[in-house]
Order: sequence, then C-alpha cells, then structure tokens
Amino acid sequence: MSSSDKPAAPVTPVVLVGVDFGLPHFDGELEELGLLAETAGLSPVARLVCKRKAPDAALFVGSGKAEEIRVLAQMHSAVEVLFDQALSPAQQRNLERVLNLPVSDRTFLILEIFAQRARSHEGKLQVELAKLQYLSTRLVRRWSHLERQRGGIGARGGPGETQIELDRRMIGDAIKRTRERLVKVKRQRSTQRRQRDRRDTFNVSLVGYTNAGKSTLFNALVKARAYAADQLFATLDTTTRQLYLADAGRSISLSDTVGFIRDLPHGLVDAFQATLQEAIDADLLLHVVDASNPSFPEQISQVQRVLAEIGAQHIPQLLIFNKLDAMAPEARPTCAQDVLEMDGEFVPRIFLSAQSGEGLQLLRQQLAAEVLKVHDEMTPDLAAELKREEG
Ligand code: GTP
Repeated sequence: MSSSDKPAAPVTPVVLVGVDFGLPHFDGELEELGLLAETAGLSPVARLVCKRKAPDAALFVGSGKAEEIRVLAQMHSAVEVLFDQALSPAQQRNLERVLNLPVSDRTFLILEIFAQRARSHEGKLQVELAKLQYLSTRLVRRWSHLERQRGGIGARGGPGETQIELDRRMIGDAIKRTRERLVKVKRQRSTQRRQRDRRDTFNVSLVGYTNAGKSTLFNALVKARAYAADQLFATLDTTTRQLYLADAGRSISLSDTVGFIRDLPHGLVDAFQATLQEAIDADLLLHVVDASNPSFPEQISQVQRVLAEIGAQHIPQLLIFNKLDAMAPEARPTCAQDVLEMDGEFVPRIFLSAQSGEGLQLLRQQLAAEVLKVHDEMTPDLAAELKREEG
C-alpha cells in the first residue's frame, strides 16, 4: 500500500479524517469512507478520528488536530485529505491552506464516483450538473481540476487560480447549458416511458443501500451479468430484465437500480431521478438489506428517507435480508420468512443469500403470490379465469 517508492504509479495515497460529534451513525473505523475512496480509485494510507462537541467554524477540526493531520499526511506522502463529513466552502479552503494539500469531503467524493460511473446520457448530464452546482460555491482550484479530469465541460482551456471571475462565468454558463441539454433528454425519456406504460407488466425494482447485494440478487434471479463488485455504486444506470415466475405462470419485469447512501448529496437525488424513476414506477420494491452489516438498521432508515424524497414511500415493499450466509450463527433467524414493523407498517421479510442461492426459491414464490394478488385486485375477470385454469 505504501506509495513513496513509486511516485508516478497510478496510486493516489490519501488520508481519511472523521470527526465524532456523538451522532449514532458515526463510523469509527471510517470503513465506508475508505470504500468510497477505493471506489473513486484512491488509496487510503492513514486514518484519523477525533472527537468534538461541534465543528470549528474555520477549520472544522481544532488547529492542533489540523497540525496532526498535516504531519500524518506528510509521513505517508499523502496527496489529498478526505473528510467523512460535509465541509463548508470556507472550512475546505482554510484546511487546504493549513495542510497545503487538496481537501475533499464526502459529498465531493460521492459526486466523483457518480461522475466516473454514470453511463446513460441523462445520468452523465445530471451528475455533471450536481457537480457544477457543488463547485460553483467552492474554490476555483476545484473547477480547473474538474476540467482537466473530464476533458473540459467548458472546453475553453485551463483557467488559472487568479481568474475567479472568468471561472464563475464559465461555471454559470456550463450550468445553464447542462440544464438546457437535460430538458431535452428528459422530454425524450418521458415519451419513452409513456410508450412503456402502455404495456401490461408487473414491475419490480431492487432498491437498497449501496453494497447490499442488489446486483448479485438480480443476476441470481434473471441469470444476467449485471456488474456486481465489492465497491460502492457499482451500478448506476438501471438494468431491466424479464423474470419468468412459474408459480404465477407469467413474467415480471425486474430492474436493478442505483444504491443509496447516507448523506447522499442533495443534487444527486435529483440527478438520479432518471434512474430512480424506475423505482417510482414500480408495482413492488424489493428492498435489499445487507443483514450481515451491523449498521443495517441505519441503512434501512437511509433508504426509506431517499424513497420518501423521490415519492416512492407508498409503493409496497418486500424486505430482502441478504447475505444470510455471512451472518453470525447466533444471529441467523429461526424462520426464513416473517414480518417486520417499519415506519408503523408491517412489511413482509425474507432471509436469503443471493450468493449461495439459499432462499431464492422462497422469494420466487413470494413474488408469484404478489403478482397474483395484484391481478386479483385489478382484473376480477382474469383472476376468475386463472382460478378456473388452476382448478
Ligand atoms: P451497489 O452497486 O453499490 O448499489 O451494490 P449492490 O447492492 O448492487 O451490491 P453487489 O451485488 O455489487 O454486491 C456487493 C458485494 O456483496 C459483492 O462483493 C458481492 O459478492 C457481495 N454479496 C452479495 N450478495 C451476497 C451474499 O448473499 N452473501 C455474501 N457473503 N456476499 C454477498
């Protein structure tokens, strides 16, 4: 992991910093930030966690801690420092001065990952917009960094740090242009969706916290090869396949969607409206949970929060407690299927392992039952016909 002997290698050593304000979801090991960094192609070489009652207005951490971070970064030849929390533009700027290194926060890191991963035209434009909006309040240096990396959204050559006005105007122009392009793409998409709506299909969407195992489950169910990896946000654009359910005698449409994460940068919820639209349009959500992760209750709440934000909170859910194989023996459930109270509602839950296949048949049966239930409700004639056929 050490990088000092090969300065030109494509390894970007970074220091991770987290401040514990006594909040329940604080990740003392900075495990998620580490995964986010690795997903963005960076190599965490050192971690520093400190406690504070409240953030310092100027530096977020105290000046003594800032000095400690500077020494740590120097010791490990780190080229960047990443904070687990969102920094204000002023805190970021001050820290960069003190540390003499670029400083990023969790929000920027997530934006970077989304920018690297977006595949669809609309997804790319949306992330670009979210990133530009974030940058417009920040240091100019960020903007030139973005331009170098992305081959130039403005494509007018690299602005120097003194050209603040020009940079502001460029960002403003880029935001305007990106918005205009998005309006066009959105118009096309809504036409496509109207066409698709006419088809009488039962739509099921996989939703869940990042790394919960959605793509693995999707692949196991439809025998596809959606990209599954121990990385965050491996899937950004929605993939949809038909899944035949023998018990229902018909196919459903199954979609794999982008993973959610705590403190999803605000612009990104809008940014992924396109991808998440699949979730909003679904008849049923399979809410996949990594049951082997001790933070799963917090992750469930985060997913519920994003679902509410995109207006999908009323869609029926089936909770999938995945990674049964990785659960400690004493934590394994005695029953493969039960009901969990969530936000005052009783939600059916299935325990399974997308990896080993344990419990998949139960899920198929449950899905078939859901399809038939909706059919019964919606088309009494057809339901009667199905019953006659069954008889
Ligand atoms: P995002 O794309 O980040 O939203 O992730 P995802 O929810 O699609 O997760 P993915 O399917 O990529 O799986 C994440 C990691 O969990 C991978 O390393 C999988 O191999 C692993 N995984 C998935 N299902 C299981 C399971 O049932 N058991 C175990 N032990 N690991 C699993």
